[in-house]
Amino acid sequence: MTDQGFILSPSLLSSDFSRLHEELAALEQAGLQWAHWDVMDGHFVPNITFGAPVIAKCRARSSLFFDVHLMIEQPEAYLDDFVRAGADLICVHAEASRHLERVVSRIQELGAKPAVALNPHTPLNVLEYVLPRLDMVLVMSVNPGFGGQRFIPFSLKKVRDLKNMIEHRKSKALIQVDGGVDLDNTKAIVDSGADVLVSGSAFFGHPPYARRRQQFKEAVQADSSG
Ligand code: DX5
Ligand code: ZN
Repeated sequence: MTDQGFILSPSLLSSDFSRLHEELAALEQAGLQWAHWDVMDGHFVPNITFGAPVIAKCRARSSLFFDVHLMIEQPEAYLDDFVRAGADLICVHAEASRHLERVVSRIQELGAKPAVALNPHTPLNVLEYVLPRLDMVLVMSVNPGFGGQRFIPFSLKKVRDLKNMIEHRKSKALIQVDGGVDLDNTKAIVDSGADVLVSGSAFFGHPPYARRRQQFKEAVQADSSG
C-alpha cells in the first residue's frame, strides 16, 4: 500500500472537467496512483456527471489506477462499457443492484476488480455472502450525489465494524471511505481501519497536488495524544 498505510484516491468530481487529462497528468506527477471517477445518472443520485466514453478518452492518456464509482441504477447494463473504457475497479451500490452476486461475478469475469458501495444507512450484513469475492468495500460517509458535504460521524464505527468483519472472514477486501474526508478527520478514518480515502473538495481545492498529498500523509502521522 502507498502513502504510509493508506491510498489516497482523489475524486475527479472536484477537478476541472474541461481539463480532465491535464488534471490526471498532474495527479500522476504529484505521485498519486489512483483516480476516483464518480459516475452519476440523475436517477440513483440527483446529479449527472460523465459516462464510459469520457473515461475511455482519458484512459488513453493516463496510467493511473481508475477507481470507478457507479452511482447509477441498473449498473449491470453498463459493466461491459466501463470495463472496455478502462476501469481497473468497478464499484456498484448494493442499493442499486437487485442481483448483487451476479453483478460482482460479471465484473470479475470481465477482468476488473469488483467492489460494493454502501450508502450511510445501509447495514453491513448485505455483504455477508459476497464479501469473499470483493476487492474493496466502499463505506459512503455522506449521502452520495454531491461533493463538499459533511462527514457523517457514525461512519467511523461502520468502518471499525467492517474491519472486524473482513478480518474475521479472512477477506482481502480493502475498505474505502468516500465523502467529507479532509485533513481533520483523515487520521481517525485511517485509525478506524480504512485503506483507501477518497477526497474531492479537500484535495482539488488546495493545489499544488504534491503538497496536498504530503499534507494528507502527515495528517495520519500526526500525534493525537498532545
Ligand atoms: C459523493 C461522491 C464523492 C465526492 C466526494 O457522491 O461519491 O466521491 O466526490 O467529495 P468530497 O470529498 O468533496 O466530499
Ligand atoms: Zn465517489
